[in-house]
Amino acid sequence: MLITRRAEFSASHACYRSDWSEERNQQVYGASANPRGHGHNYVLEVTLEGEPDEVTGMVMDLKDLKQILETEVVQPFDHRFLNHEVPPFDRVIPTPENITIEIWKRLAPHFSGTGHKLHQVRLWETEDLYVDYRGEPA
Ligand code: NI
Repeated sequence: MLITRRAEFSASHACYRSDWSEERNQQVYGASANPRGHGHNYVLEVTLEGEPDEVTGMVMDLKDLKQILETEVVQPFDHRFLNHEVPPFDRVIPTPENITIEIWKRLAPHFSGTGHKLHQVRLWETEDLYVDYRGEPA
């Protein structure tokens, strides 16, 4: 069974390589390359896989999952300029792909050795764009 919890955060990012010329950054990343950055209202959907507990009827206590998302993602990311305030995005370009991988890395350790496992992280950057990632268990 799969169960998904949603969380939201707002953050700014800029997508550019400092070892490239401004022109090349513009060609590859377009308007996103502006180092001043721009904001998105990100929507995160975290999916767990497991079977409902025979006693509680729950795959996981969703209050606990909410708290993990708050601590690992929402509090550190919300209202931040990712490139300047949230490692590793001082050296990893905060494309939605890379943000999704980082969120997986932060969440996966919380689900090792439990009766359920992290199945997928989906990150919506805009209403027209989302990234799905299914990484390795921690
Ligand atoms: Ni953007």
